Amino acid sequence: MENIFKQVEKNIDELVTNNVDWSVCASEKELLEARSGKLKLRFMDREIPDEWLGDIKGKRVLCLAGAGGLQAPLLACAGAMVTVIDISEKMLDRDREIAKREKLSMDIIKGNMCDLSMFGDGYFDHIINPLSLMYVPEPYAVFKECYRVLKKGGVFIMAAPCPINYVCDYVEDENGGYYKAVHKMPYFSKDHDDSDWIEYGHSMETYLGGLIRSGFIINGYAECQMEDITELYFMARAIKCGDIY
Ligand SMILES: C[S@@+](CC[C@H](N)C(=O)[O-])C[C@H]1O[C@@H](n2cnc3c(N)ncnc32)[C@H](O)[C@@H]1O
Repeated sequence: MENIFKQVEKNIDELVTNNVDWSVCASEKELLEARSGKLKLRFMDREIPDEWLGDIKGKRVLCLAGAGGLQAPLLACAGAMVTVIDISEKMLDRDREIAKREKLSMDIIKGNMCDLSMFGDGYFDHIINPLSLMYVPEPYAVFKECYRVLKKGGVFIMAAPCPINYVCDYVEDENGGYYKAVHKMPYFSKDHDDSDWIEYGHSMETYLGGLIRSGFIINGYAECQMEDITELYFMARAIKCGDIY
């Protein structure tokens, strides 16, 4: 398992060196607006609804697998006490640079989202988890830990790719080609090619069912379709309500 995460770290670092689109940092305009009370957070192309976040001023927020200089600095500008954890030093460097330039105080930690043992129970008010669970074999292990480190009433906001991203392959033909459903879920990249890329396609049952099984109540759901029409992401908002069972 350790090898899997080492390989993910290497893969991500390489992408960041090549300026992959999701390593684009928050703009100075966005940072300024966040400071003046107009915080806008997004996962890829889709904004997180304002009502999902609520007032985060003074709240303890964990950006889980959330480095890259986008969400964490904006949350800090809006007055949250931010911790960011990520497996990639290069992604974390983006946050370090912005924190230094903007004089923001953030805890920036290199770590694995599957292991939150450095935090006590009920430590955070919010957890923001951008698209990243496709690099983890078992999202349920992450959800359980998130549930533990959130306060009662705490909010977990996540995004992840929908299964359609993994079910289809592009088939070329004389008319230009088409997508065909060829893979069964769950999907693991290593079962289909010999490259070093590691990615898991999880079912919606794994994602939404896993949140529910961990004790969360899901109270928000939205989707975002990217330019390539098979690239579909969802985001969910879940709350730790306490002892409900
Ligand atoms: C698509 S990027 C998301 C970050 C970006 N800020 C965004 O808005 O989309 C996925 C992130 O997950 C991180 N990641 C992948 N596996 C991880 C793990 N096991 N633990 C912590 N971070 C991980 C990657 O290093 C990368 O920064």
